[in-house]
Amino acid sequence: MKDSSLRIANLLLAAAVLFLCCDGGGGGGAAAEEAAELSSDVGLSEAEVGLIRRRQLLYYRDGFGDRGENVTVPDSFTFPNPRLRNAYIALQAWKLAIVSDPKNVTGDWVGPDVCNYKGVFCAPLPSDPCLTVVAGIDLNHADIAGFLPEELGLLCDLAIFHINSNRFCGTIPHSFSRMHLLFELDLSNNRFAGGFPDVVLGLPELKYFDIRFNEFDGSIPEELFDKNLDAIFVNNNRFVFDIPDNFGNSPVSVIVMANNRFQGCVPASIGDMSDTLNEIILSNNGLRDDSGVDLQSSQPSKLHFFV
Ligand SMILES: *[C@@H]1O[C@H](CO)[C@@H](O)[C@H](O)[C@H]1NC(C)=O
Ligand SMILES: *[C@@H]1O[C@H](CO)[C@@H](O)[C@H](O)[C@H]1NC(C)=O
Repeated sequence: MKDSSLRIANLLLAAAVLFLCCDGGGGGGAAAEEAAELSSDVGLSEAEVGLIRRRQLLYYRDGFGDRGENVTVPDSFTFPNPRLRNAYIALQAWKLAIVSDPKNVTGDWVGPDVCNYKGVFCAPLPSDPCLTVVAGIDLNHADIAGFLPEELGLLCDLAIFHINSNRFCGTIPHSFSRMHLLFELDLSNNRFAGGFPDVVLGLPELKYFDIRFNEFDGSIPEELFDKNLDAIFVNNNRFVFDIPDNFGNSPVSVIVMANNRFQGCVPASIGDMSDTLNEIILSNNGLRDDSGVDLQSSQPSKLHFFV
């Protein structure tokens, strides 16, 4: 970017901000080169204008500050049911929100047959087995850079959303609140930032919650520990907070909070967790264990307890 002319630098301000957001490491190569190629002194080509227009779409924000994309559905497309039509809109919006897909994982996200898109899994809707819906997304290890558009909330029948080990940035859209069947949410090893994604607190079916290795900051709401979750991974973020007294209410079998900046003491309520807990890792947080609870001896065979 450093050779870009001032004119182009202005034109591509939106793109530049996006690169900073998503591509702190070397991963932004393709997109950054694409932008650098635009820095000629002649007029902009059609393709360049198109690229800029597309980048500008990334600046749309809904009432919550979430970003979305403009997707139109061609008249020639037919869908088995309206939910799959909505899924088409959601997935095409997501594709527009992707700035780098080095493994071409979304290359076949074309046309109305969303159930054949790579990483997209359809199944009968539990409450109405005649309806086929998108029930799972698995883009683990795809190395994709981009963000999550608010249209993903249209995938309201999702049970599984796995996008670990990509370069997604930004925040989790509030529209995820519509995913009332979501059971497993794995956002680990991405570049998400901002406060804890409160939207997950309202997901009634959520059991597996994994946001480790991101850039989330601020505190973790104590409501998390009252949720009926089986696994909580929030390690390797930038959270700072005191572990609340209701920590022991959590019915998890595994909880990993290591490598954040938690303060204060491990609450005595942790002793209430011994029925369900198999593994708890709190290490490298600056916590003191004043709980006086000997968790090791309460379940010596399975429990790993690291403060
Ligand atoms: C989407 O398209 C409509 C109509 O063309 C326009 O008014 C709106 O601003 C567009 N939204 C975005 C995000 O570009
Ligand atoms: C990406 O995948 C699509 C469909 O699988 C294919 O048509 C396209 O040529 C691929 N693009 C690249 C750059 O490999």
